[in-house]
Amino acid sequence: MGLHIGSIAPDFEQDSTDGTIKFHDWIGDQWAILFSHPKDFTPVCTTELGRAASLKSEFAKRNVKMIAVSVDGVGDHKKWIGDIEDTQKVKMNFPILGDPDRKIAKLYDMIHDEANNTLTVRSVFVIDNNKKIRGMITYPASTGRNFTEILRLIDSLQLTDSHKVATPVDWKDGDDCVIVPAVQDENEIKKLFPKGYEAVRPWLRMTPQPNK
Ligand code: BEZ
Repeated sequence: MGLHIGSIAPDFEQDSTDGTIKFHDWIGDQWAILFSHPKDFTPVCTTELGRAASLKSEFAKRNVKMIAVSVDGVGDHKKWIGDIEDTQKVKMNFPILGDPDRKIAKLYDMIHDEANNTLTVRSVFVIDNNKKIRGMITYPASTGRNFTEILRLIDSLQLTDSHKVATPVDWKDGDDCVIVPAVQDENEIKKLFPKGYEAVRPWLRMTPQPNK
């Protein structure tokens, strides 16, 4: 069966640049992003890892740990890190899992045979503190991911966990939100959204972000 939003993220034990990682134990009671790289010493991956490292404090603010995986071994990863740090002017600050046997790539369905039957696509799994997959993004090897978008996704997930809102197109933290259709009772609406709301349609109700 494939992995879906709501599935428990498969657990594994694997070598990484920070030593052996038991994935669920490593996540602990935080959130995590697990993201794949097609291969070591490749240009797009190098820029992505540099960007991710530079955003570590933004992920930490959201209680999210980062972990990358690439199909080469940890020995190669360690050599590659030198190049990442040199070229992207960052200090690498999160682990990269070795995956020469494609164990994790297969577990997380990161190899899409029709694209390439040995290298992974660019997958991102957002995993919450209950080890549930909350979001997935998949890009081809030729397109670098947007880490600001990954942070935006996490902001939306964490906001909608605690408030009865959803986030509209292009929303970013601080923008107006949508009141979820399940909330219909006028007294409940007043209690939940004391800043008020605008009913553009009875089923399209906008409210200021409740936790701002
Ligand atoms: C890259 O990271 O630059 C890359 C990796 C595999 C295929 C194409 C590009």
